Amino acid sequence: MLPPVQIIARKRDGGEHTRSEIAALVEGYVAGEVHDHQMAAWAMAVCLRGMTESETAALTESMWRSGVTLQWDGHPLPRVDKHSTGGIGDKSSLILAPLLACCGVCVPMVAGRALGATGGTLDKLESIPGFRTNLSARELSGIVERIGCVITGATSEMAPADRKLYALRDVTATVESIPLIAASILSKKLAEGLDALALDVKCGAGAFMKTVARARELAQLMVRTCERLGVRATALVTDMNQPTGRMVGNTVEVNEALETLSGRGPSDLVELVLALGGDLLLGVKRAESVQSARAILSQKLHNGQALEKFREMVAAQGGALDRPRPIETPHLVCADRAGFLFAIHGEQIGQALIALGGGRTSIGAPINHAIGMELLVRLAEPVEREQPLARFFAPADAWQRIAPTVRSAFCIADAPPPAPVLIAERIQ
Ligand code: URA
Repeated sequence: MLPPVQIIARKRDGGEHTRSEIAALVEGYVAGEVHDHQMAAWAMAVCLRGMTESETAALTESMWRSGVTLQWDGHPLPRVDKHSTGGIGDKSSLILAPLLACCGVCVPMVAGRALGATGGTLDKLESIPGFRTNLSARELSGIVERIGCVITGATSEMAPADRKLYALRDVTATVESIPLIAASILSKKLAEGLDALALDVKCGAGAFMKTVARARELAQLMVRTCERLGVRATALVTDMNQPTGRMVGNTVEVNEALETLSGRGPSDLVELVLALGGDLLLGVKRAESVQSARAILSQKLHNGQALEKFREMVAAQGGALDRPRPIETPHLVCADRAGFLFAIHGEQIGQALIALGGGRTSIGAPINHAIGMELLVRLAEPVEREQPLARFFAPADAWQRIAPTVRSAFCIADAPPPAPVLIAERIQ
């Protein structure tokens, strides 16, 4: 192998790595032979110089293979999953895992925690008393065999290279690189041993990707990387200029997921679930057309099967849905003038919920799951002066401190903004 310093120099000078150079770098890093300062220099060189598609695929593969891949030998059903780059109020994973498990596929979903202002699937599920998100690989496979779906955190054996590299990128201003993001996301998902993956790349004020151009670039790169690595993938670029559904926060999002699994979900959330789920059923040939995929999924949301599957999954993971899941006292945020709801600063809302105690400010800190928000008006709708725009669930003293900041997250104008389009693009 070339010494790490020469590999770093090649990228610094804008060169292209071979597959074996990348493998050597990643393997050396996990083994402790390539040091943090060398990996940080390399990550910065990648940020500035970029990577080709073939380098991105090699990096993804090396990081994925740095740990264990879940084994499904002899398992009769195809494995599918979805990944979202993170949005305010996006609880679609909670719905998709049990819904798809009712449709002849299984879902070994390894999910994450809150990142920045966006919520995390694991934190939402932990608002259910007793729910375990730290399953071993053996427990995970056992539940998938029995129930067809599971939602849990990554085990320490899955993609360890990503865990180490992500922590380094976080403190060296190297998170922003699209090839590094693609390899990081995909290495964890491919370790699930999937046949198909649906990607939801969020775009807008409340998202990691602020512009459609960057969201499209990431979506295309991830789909092509999956193709090179033999996994069918599709990606949607979806709007994150307002929360998905009405609820934001841990307990209230679980409640909205339960409503959606009972066939009474808000239209944007249902649309997102049908689009992502439909792509997966088509990808593994469990449906013949987009229309039939949507019809199958919609039926399972309305006939109680998806809800029953969610209950089974929660019980298998130790959760007790019948135990109380309290919500804090509601406080209204009202319009200070008449007009149209023109913009919602999702990041500000996410940060406000964190400041209220509904999210973390340090790794591993406890969360008050009872904190949340309900959006009462959607973008572009007309509003009267003093009309309630949102309801925040928070302890009174904490609410007094944060209320003025929260009010400025809602922008009212004389004319409506262009009508929001939920699914901006689909990439195959
Ligand atoms: N999420 C990930 O898992 N990795 C990144 O690099 C960015 C977001």
